[in-house]
Amino acid sequence: MSAPMPAALLLPDVPCWLDGRWLPLNEARVSVLDRGFLFGDGVYEVIPVYGGRLFRFDEHMARLAHSLQAARIPDPQGPEGWLALLRELVARVAAHSGSADQLAYLQVTRGVAPRAHPMPPGLTPTVFLMSQPHTPPGPAQRREGVACVTARDFRWERGDIKSTSLLGGVMARQIAVDRGAAETILLRDSGHGMTVTEGSSSNVWAVLDGALIGVPPSTHTLAGIRIELLRELCEEEGIACHLRPIAEAELTIADEILISSAGRELLPVTRLDGEPVGHGALRGKPGPVYARLHAAYERAKVEQSI
Ligand code: PDD
Repeated sequence: MSAPMPAALLLPDVPCWLDGRWLPLNEARVSVLDRGFLFGDGVYEVIPVYGGRLFRFDEHMARLAHSLQAARIPDPQGPEGWLALLRELVARVAAHSGSADQLAYLQVTRGVAPRAHPMPPGLTPTVFLMSQPHTPPGPAQRREGVACVTARDFRWERGDIKSTSLLGGVMARQIAVDRGAAETILLRDSGHGMTVTEGSSSNVWAVLDGALIGVPPSTHTLAGIRIELLRELCEEEGIACHLRPIAEAELTIADEILISSAGRELLPVTRLDGEPVGHGALRGKPGPVYARLHAAYERAKVEQSI
């Protein structure tokens, strides 16, 4: 019997890869003793695919290597192996769905073992890849922007690892959902007052005095692939860009607030905790820095996908 699939999200029988073979997603099964299932003991990547090509592939591989190494899970493939697998996945999903724009997901868990907390030596990691047709945010969302709320960051201290242990992120996102907002911007006491760490599944940016300010990656802030990308795009556009802590109070005076992630790309935040973001005629509206970076991002999709 097929497992129930979430409605309207995925094609139930879209091809996926599990532990060395291709099979329809609704037929893929892992052991209940998989440590990914029991402990969230695994790492993952989400890679955008444009026109059948992987966006910023090398950067995703570098981050995957960091996550695996930090979690002490052996890399079962290496970059060449991942590239071949992901390309085949994208081609199969494109043939199945007719969509060359996708979000590819890859997950590596420590593997299957009797339940005990210590890391068992010598396990074979479980490798799972799937991809789904993806529509980036549309014109209406880009015109209107999105609403966000703020909340205290109650997640763990290894936010540099892209871990499948996501209960903290799920709980953080639900705070926004319960208030009709798109994302929760998380704040932590940094010793110098409350500062932004990141969104529940995005990085956060503020425009202050014409400069784009982003939060530097740390153990509280994932090294989002879009952090380096936006730095490069700012350079191209002649927009000043600095990575430094963003104080909570700066969010209330920012000219613009943006969020970035693989799926959402770059989006303007036009309401924060129910208040319009920005000043003057642009209060509550996407601003000029967003508009320029969005255009630059669209160009980068074409130039930086392999
Ligand atoms: N999440 N911070 C967190 C906690 C995230 O989960 C993500 C992405 C980001 C942005 O990283 P990137 O630009 O590399 O997507 C920052 C992915 C998309 C997810 O969990 O689906």
